[in-house]
Amino acid sequence: MANEEQVRESLETVLVPTIKRSIVGMNLVRAVTISDQKVNITLSSTGLVPSAQDWIKTEAKEAIENLPDVKHADVEYTDAKAKDLNRIDHMIAVMSGKGGVGKSLVSSLLATALKRRGYEVGILDADITGPSIPKMFGLSARPSGNEGGLLPVLSRSGIEVMSINLLLPNEDDAVIWRGPLIGNTIKQFGEDVLWGKLDYLIVDLPPGTADAPLTLMQSFPISGVIVVFTPQDLVEMIVRKAVNMARKMEKRVLGVVENMSYLYVPELDKRIEIFGRSRGEETARAVNAPFLGHLPIDPMLAKLCDEGEIERYDDEIVTRLGEALVQVVSPGGR
Ligand SMILES: Nc1ncnc2c1ncn2[C@@H]1O[C@H](COP(=O)(O)OP(=O)(O)O)[C@@H](O)[C@H]1O
Ligand SMILES: [Mg+2]
Repeated sequence: MANEEQVRESLETVLVPTIKRSIVGMNLVRAVTISDQKVNITLSSTGLVPSAQDWIKTEAKEAIENLPDVKHADVEYTDAKAKDLNRIDHMIAVMSGKGGVGKSLVSSLLATALKRRGYEVGILDADITGPSIPKMFGLSARPSGNEGGLLPVLSRSGIEVMSINLLLPNEDDAVIWRGPLIGNTIKQFGEDVLWGKLDYLIVDLPPGTADAPLTLMQSFPISGVIVVFTPQDLVEMIVRKAVNMARKMEKRVLGVVENMSYLYVPELDKRIEIFGRSRGEETARAVNAPFLGHLPIDPMLAKLCDEGEIERYDDEIVTRLGEALVQVVSPGGR
């Protein structure tokens, strides 16, 4: 006779349409009961349109009935809230002292690096002041869902992506909201997304240390923060402000990343420090946070961002960034 473990294993083959992850990975399997040669399972319908529910029901029934000694399987649906189904090991916010320093780029590259290492990864684009994540990944599909929740959109390499931009009728529509509204809307929005089981969720916060990033950091169970900066005057002060804000909210500062550290000129085999001497490690030491690495100014990066192909950026610098983060989050292990 089949046991519960075998039943759950067989359900690993049943994929949620559009997101293409199993109903087990999305944590939709709520209960399994086995008696004689009959199996009953209860699934949550969270985020599933009626046609998806029907399809999953048929597939699940078939998968279970293929197990040895199972004569009959029944599939029932129940409701659950997305936030009660999500199992996210590490929710990491990416912040910056000011805008335009490459916060979204670093968020995208970190997610890409983690995905390449085999983790289940999602990105929540919480920067309503300039939601640019879908563009970097070349995504424009509208997320599907029902009253219970919204399903993220899947990137080419399999990263779950959610952004307010994907829900706007026109992707160029500016989002002009006032502070408190932003906080509440994004909180609600964040809670309504069904991510399922994730190793990492990267949250791209609005820039700066004003109300919006603060409210968002309070709204989500963020486990750690990464601060992105560029070499410039007053860099230490700007980074310190961001780091202090995170620490005041009792969030662990996982590290700092310096972007646009230098321009590499292959013809000369030379690094040019356009914005002055790189002070990445020095800044990290000054604010007492790990230095996760730096990124050069690379025209290829700008091009891939514009073309929605950021996942194709294949430089060891990305691998090292991912490694550095994993080391800080869980030294020596997964
Ligand atoms: N290291 C880099 N090399 C080349 N272009 C970069 C780099 N960092 C950022 N950019 C360019 O700057 C744009 C803005 O970066 P972004 O990550 O959106 O900034 P932020 O989220 O901090 O506002 C990107 O779309 C990209 O074209
Ligand atoms: Mg951005």
